[in-house]
Amino acid sequence: MALDSPPKRRHEQLDCTSVSEHSDLGPVSLVGAGPGDPELLTLRALRRLEVADVVLHDNLISEEVLRLVPQDAEMVNVGKRCGDVKDRGLQQQEIHDLMLAHSRRGRRVVRLKCGDPFVFGRGGEELEFLVKHQVPFEVVPGITSALGVSASIQVPLTHRSFDTNHVHFCTGQSQARTLPDLNWSELAKSAMKQTAVFYMGLKSLDKICSTLREHGAPDDTPMALVESGTTPQEETLFSTLSSMPEDVKKQKFGRGGPALIFLGPTAAFPAHLRQLSGRPLKRARGKDWCEKQSVSDAEA
Ligand SMILES: C[S@@+](CC[C@H](N)C(=O)[O-])C[C@H]1O[C@@H](n2cnc3c(N)ncnc32)[C@H](O)[C@@H]1O
Repeated sequence: MALDSPPKRRHEQLDCTSVSEHSDLGPVSLVGAGPGDPELLTLRALRRLEVADVVLHDNLISEEVLRLVPQDAEMVNVGKRCGDVKDRGLQQQEIHDLMLAHSRRGRRVVRLKCGDPFVFGRGGEELEFLVKHQVPFEVVPGITSALGVSASIQVPLTHRSFDTNHVHFCTGQSQARTLPDLNWSELAKSAMKQTAVFYMGLKSLDKICSTLREHGAPDDTPMALVESGTTPQEETLFSTLSSMPEDVKKQKFGRGGPALIFLGPTAAFPAHLRQLSGRPLKRARGKDWCEKQSVSDAEA
C-alpha cells in the first residue's frame, strides 16, 4: 500500500535560552526507533510515542514510524541525518536546548533516534546534558541497524560452522571525515574469524577496503553492502573485499540512504542458503502470518 507523506505538524518557536527555575520538568525519553521497519520498534518505544507531547526526531526516521505519532503531538525534525555530518540541521547543542525548553514547559518529550540511542547515536552526550539539568530521563533501547539489517539480509553475525565467533561494530568515518583510528591490523587479521560491521562507512568504502588489504586481510573475504536495510527501499550488494569498490561503481549502488558494510565469512551466508535450497529463497512475509491466523480461526 502506498503511503502519503506524514502530515505537517505545528512547530512552536520556544525560547531555548531561558534559565529560570522550573519545578515541573517534563520527562525526556531517548528512544531508539530501530532501523526503519516500524514493526521493529519495541513496545516501550511505541508506548512513549503514543503519549508524547513533542517528538524531536532525526532525519532518517522512516515515515512509517513517524506515522505512529498521534496527530496532536508536535513533531520537530531536528535534521541530523543518521551518520551524515554534512547537511546537518541543528547542531548538537541546539538539540540539547530544545529538549530542555520543552521539558521546562512540562511536556513529555521523545527524542527519537535511529537504531539504538547508545550505538553511534550520541545518546551518551544527550544523557549527560539531561542529567546536568536535572531533567527526568529514560533510555529506550532500539534495534541497532547492524542487528536489524543482518536479520533482514540473512547474514548471521556469528555462526559456528563459519568459524565466526565474535562481532565487531565500528564506525567507518571519523569526525574529520577521514578513516577512523581503528586497529586495522587486528581487523585484517580477524577478517575471516569475525563479522565486522562498519556504520557510516559507505563514503570511505574504497579506503576501508584498501587499508584492510594492505594489512593482510584476504582478498576473497566476503563482504555485503546494504542501504536502507529493513525498509521497502532496501538494496544489497554481495561481493568480496577486493571486488567491492569496483562492484559498487559498476552497479551504481546507493540512492543516498544510510548504509552498512558487513565484512566476514557470513557475508556469504545468503549465497550458501540459496545453494542449500537450490532455488530462490522463500521468505515468509507479514501477510503469511495473517493468512495462517485466518486458517486457525476458520478451524476453531
Ligand atoms: C549515526 S549512525 C546511528 C546508528 C544508530 N544509532 C543505530 O544503532 O543503528 C548512522 C548509521 O547507521 C547505519 N544505519 C542506520 N539505519 C540503517 C539502515 N536502515 N540501513 C543501513 N544502515 C543503517 C548507517 O551506517 C548510518 O550511516
